[in-house]
Amino acid sequence: MPHFTLIQGSLRKDSRTALLIDATADILQKNNVETSVIDLRSIDMQFCDARKIEEYNSDIQKAYDILKQSDAYMFGMPVYCYSVSGPLKNFIDITSGAMSKKIAGILCNSGGVRSFLAAADLMKILSFESNVTTVQPIVHAYADDFQSGQIFNEDILKRIEKLALAMLHDL
Ligand SMILES: Cc1cc2nc3c(=O)[nH]c(=O)nc-3n(C[C@H](O)[C@H](O)[C@H](O)COP(=O)(O)O)c2cc1C
Repeated sequence: MPHFTLIQGSLRKDSRTALLIDATADILQKNNVETSVIDLRSIDMQFCDARKIEEYNSDIQKAYDILKQSDAYMFGMPVYCYSVSGPLKNFIDITSGAMSKKIAGILCNSGGVRSFLAAADLMKILSFESNVTTVQPIVHAYADDFQSGQIFNEDILKRIEKLALAMLHDL
């Protein structure tokens, strides 16, 4: 059974990226995929200072090991200042060594409808640093796709499923 790790990159309490990650976990489980979720709100995050992975705390080492054992990743990426959010970039700076030559999907979540190109920054980071190939098309959601703390635009769920199936096909 393939194993996907879902990385939720927002630290906000009522995160919309987290809703996308929850929906993706459901879709993957329905397709018989084993899933792990690394929600950056629930780990004791440290700043990357170029120390060895063994010198970070146990939460980070555990996350590193999960990433290393996974076949594929889904990145829930909040858009900050037209790019990857700082916490997610920091997490990747620490763990990029665990992800070598795997595949990834991107769930790019922004306030504005035109901010989807921020996902290109994440694609570049994953590709250049970890030789991780991102499967296209990415899923982009923005503020109007959500209502009352839920995903309102059901097309988003269809796009997530399409991306998940494309990734399973590529494994
Ligand atoms: C510091 C900061 C910078 C942001 N920059 C952008 C941006 O450049 N473009 C955009 O469309 N939305 C931007 N947003 C809006 C977020 O992408 C949006 O609120 C999104 O829902 C955040 O994800 P979350 O709900 O999972 O926390 C920004 C939000 C914050 C807090």
